[in-house]
Amino acid sequence: MSFHSLLWQTSFGGLIFSNQFIRIKTTVPSSSIYGFGEHEHPSFRHAMNYVKYGMFSRDQAPAFSNLYGVHPFYMCIENDFNAHGILLLNSNAQDVTLSPHPSITFRTIGGILDFYLFLGPTPENVVQQYTEAIGRPFMPPYWSLGFQLSRWGYNNIEVQRKTVERLKHYDIPLDVQYGDIDYMDRQLDFTYDKTNFAGLPEYVKTLKRDGMHYVIILDPFLTKDEPAGTYKAYDLGQEMGIWINNSDGATPAVGRAWPPGDSVFPDFTNPLTTEWWIQMCMEFKNIIDYDGIWIDMNEPSNFATGQQPGCANNNLNNPPYVPDITDGILAEKTLCPDSKTFLGDHYDTHSLFGWSQAKSTFYASQNVTRKRAFVLSRSTFVGSGKYTGHWLGDNFSRWRDMHMSIIGMLEFNLFGIPYVGADICGFNEDTNYELCLRWMQLGAFYPFSRNHNSIGSKEQDPGIFGEKFASISRSALLIRYTLLPYLYTLFYHSHTSGSTVIRGLMHEFTSDPQTHGIDKAFLWGSSLMITPVLEEGAKSVSVYFPEAFWYNFYTGDQVPPSWQKTFVEVPAPLDIIPLFIRGGAILPIQAPARTTEHSRLNPFGLIISLDEQEEAYGSLFWDDGDSIDSIEKENYFYAEYKFSNGELKTTVMKNGFPGTTTLAYENVQILGLTSKPNIISVNGKVIPSDRIQVFPSRSASWKLLVGHVKFKQRLTLSPTPPIAPPLRCWSPVLRRPLVASAPGPAGSRARREER
Ligand code: NOJ
Repeated sequence: MSFHSLLWQTSFGGLIFSNQFIRIKTTVPSSSIYGFGEHEHPSFRHAMNYVKYGMFSRDQAPAFSNLYGVHPFYMCIENDFNAHGILLLNSNAQDVTLSPHPSITFRTIGGILDFYLFLGPTPENVVQQYTEAIGRPFMPPYWSLGFQLSRWGYNNIEVQRKTVERLKHYDIPLDVQYGDIDYMDRQLDFTYDKTNFAGLPEYVKTLKRDGMHYVIILDPFLTKDEPAGTYKAYDLGQEMGIWINNSDGATPAVGRAWPPGDSVFPDFTNPLTTEWWIQMCMEFKNIIDYDGIWIDMNEPSNFATGQQPGCANNNLNNPPYVPDITDGILAEKTLCPDSKTFLGDHYDTHSLFGWSQAKSTFYASQNVTRKRAFVLSRSTFVGSGKYTGHWLGDNFSRWRDMHMSIIGMLEFNLFGIPYVGADICGFNEDTNYELCLRWMQLGAFYPFSRNHNSIGSKEQDPGIFGEKFASISRSALLIRYTLLPYLYTLFYHSHTSGSTVIRGLMHEFTSDPQTHGIDKAFLWGSSLMITPVLEEGAKSVSVYFPEAFWYNFYTGDQVPPSWQKTFVEVPAPLDIIPLFIRGGAILPIQAPARTTEHSRLNPFGLIISLDEQEEAYGSLFWDDGDSIDSIEKENYFYAEYKFSNGELKTTVMKNGFPGTTTLAYENVQILGLTSKPNIISVNGKVIPSDRIQVFPSRSASWKLLVGHVKFKQRLTLSPTPPIAPPLRCWSPVLRRPLVASAPGPAGSRARREER
C-alpha cells in the first residue's frame, strides 16, 4: 500500500471519553466508504453528506434506520485505490456520522474504543483479514445452495403440500421447504399444530424421500402461561434458570410476543442456555425430522416498550445521549436496558442476542442432525458469519427493494456473512407477475435463494403464475444449479480464506473509479457478472463493462472491446437475466436437476473463458456436501485448473473424497479461442470431431463433449495438428440451437484467482 495515505487523523475532532458517552472523530482518506450496518442504504458507496447511521439491533422492516443487526465496520477505497477496513468492536448502542470533509464521527454509549485496522491493500484482502479476526464464514451444506420456498401463512398442510406440488408439476428446482410459525401449535416453539398441520412429521419424511430438506423456525420467547407441567420448553428453562432477568438479576423479564400469554426470553450468553436449547432441539427432532434452524425475532423482539411493568427511570434505561435510533428509546420493541444477562447488563449485550443465539443454534443444529449446521438468523453481529447466514428481513414487494437487496448482500459479504439473500418477490404486500418474475431471476443468483411471503399476502411461489412464468423461473434456477459447483467452491474459499462470495465490481476493478459506485450489478467470485432488470417494463439493462474480456453467458459471444469501460444497453427480454463471464476464468459446472441431491450425481463440465493471453484459471472443491468436518478431516477433493498455450491442465491438490469415483466430466466449453480447436485430445485420446461444437457459428467459443472422463483423473486437453471439424450451434444452458452473432475481438487484462 502507499505510504502516503493518512488513514486516520483524529486530532482535529477531539475525543470525549466518559462512562456513557464516547465520541471520536477522524478524517478518512477518501469518500469511497462502504459498510456499517445493518441499515437499508440507498447506495453501496455512502453519501458523505452528514448522513448519520444508528446501530442497535431492532425488529424493524428494512428502512433508512437501525435494523436487525449491528456491524460497526467500514471499508475505504483510498484515492490511490488501495483499500483498508476499520472495525469498532463495540456492542453498545451507537451511531456514526459521515461528513464531506471526508470524515467519520463515532459515538457510542458504553464500552471502550476497541478499533481494528485491516490494511488490505485490495478489497478482497480487507475482507480476508477482517474475517481472520472475527471468524471465517461457516461452510454451508450443499443442499442449502439450492432454491428454497417459504411463507408465513400457508395456514395448513394442504396449502403447503399443493404449493410444493405445483413446483414439482412445472419441474422447478426446489431443495428446501420451510415451516414458519404457522406450523406451530399457537406459536409455541417445539410444538406443531396437530389440527391444521396434522401429519407434518410424515410429510417432512416424504419431502426428504424426494430429495428435499426441511427447515423450521424457532422464536426466542417462550410463554410462561401454559398450565404447569404441560410445556416442557418453559418448565425446563425455568428450572434451569436460563432467562434474561429483570434488573434485580433474579426474576425473569416478562414481555409479550407471538405465543399466548406472556413470554420470557432465553439468555443465550449463558452456557446453560445452550444445553437447554440443544436438549429441546433434540427432542423436537424426534418429532419432526428437520435439517436446519431458522432463528427469527432475535433482536430480541418484544411487542412492548420494555418488559412488565415498564422500565425504571435510571441511567441505563434513559442514558444522557441516545444514538440516532428509531424512536430514540432503547427499550422500544425490546427489553429494558437494565435487564440482566449472564454476560452483563442488557444495555451492553442487547445487540449480541442474535450472535449468541446463532452460536448456540449452530451447535444445536450439528448435534441434532449430526450433519453440517444450517442456521439462518435475522439478527447478526460482528463474527456471526461463523455460525449463521442471514436474510435481509421483512422487505416489500416493490421494485426498489430488488435494488436494495443487492446493496444489502454486498454489505453482508463485507461483514463476513456471505450466505445472504432477500425474500424473493418481496415479503410485505402483494407482489405481481412482472416484479416477481424479475425477482425470481435475480434471486436465482442470491447466495441464499429463498422465496418467502407474509401472512395475508397473495401467493407468490414460482408455480402460481402459470406455465410461462414457471418456465422462465425454471430456466433461471437451472442456470444456478448448473453453476452450483462454482458457487460451492466460492464458499469453500470464503470458509478457508475469507474471501467474499458475491462482490461489487469495485472489488475486482478497484483502479477504475467508475466501478466504485456500481451497485445494480454484482459478481459471483471474480468471474460471473449478474446484471438484473430492476425496473418495471424494462427490456434492457445498462451494463458497465470494466476493462476485461467478457463473454455472453448464453451465447458464448465475446462482447466487443469497444464496450469496455462504457455503459452499454444490453437486451433483457422478460425471459432473460443478462449474465457475463469474465475472461480468465474456469468455472466448474454440473448438469442441473430438480434437487441438489439429484444434481450432485450428474456429469460435470467446465466453462473456460479465455483472457487476452488465452489463459484461464479456476478451481473445484467437492465433498459429500453435508459432513460437519470434511475439510478438517481432509475428506474432500480439490483441484486447480489452468488453461494456457492451448492446453488445460488439472492439478488435483487433494483427493480425499471417495465419492468422486462415480463422477465424470462430460463437456468443456472454451470461450475465446482465436484459432479453431481442430483436433483435441483428452488425457491423450483424440475427441472425435463431431464432439466438437461451436457456439454460435461465427464465434470463437467451443463446446467439447469430452466423453466420460473420470472425475479423479487429471483432465488435460491438448491441441493436435489442425483438421477442420464439422460445426454445430448449441447452447449448453438453454439446451437449444443458438442465433449466431458477431464475436468481438478483445483486449484487456484479466485476473487469475479462485484457484
Ligand atoms: C418475522 C420474520 O422476519 C418473517 O420472515 C417471518 O415470516 C415472521 N416473523 C413470522 O415468523
